[in-house]
Amino acid sequence: MSYYTRHVFICCNQREEGEQCCNATGGADAFAYAKDRIGALKKNGPGAIRINKAGCLGRCENGPTLVIYPEETWYSFIDKEDIEEIIQEHLLNGRVVERLRI
Ligand code: FES
Repeated sequence: MSYYTRHVFICCNQREEGEQCCNATGGADAFAYAKDRIGALKKNGPGAIRINKAGCLGRCENGPTLVIYPEETWYSFIDKEDIEEIIQEHLLNGRVVERLRI
């Protein structure tokens, strides 16, 4: 059995001004929001969900990006509403959010 049921990596990579990176388009905000929400829902920790900051995940052209394991599902998102949908659908109910999938 996995240590975490789902492990989320959110790219928070910051590059020099003007260079494309996920942090310039909301990576850190998404990380803070997801971590707070999973904590508030008491779904964080061993046997549950882990939200991690990540450096560049190598899919910058689709950014901001995140990936969820063990499903290896990649998402791009725009705002907190998108992150909330990923939380509610994928993390809590195991349903892939196709409209945000990359
Ligand atoms: S900067 Fe986020 S995937 Fe590369």
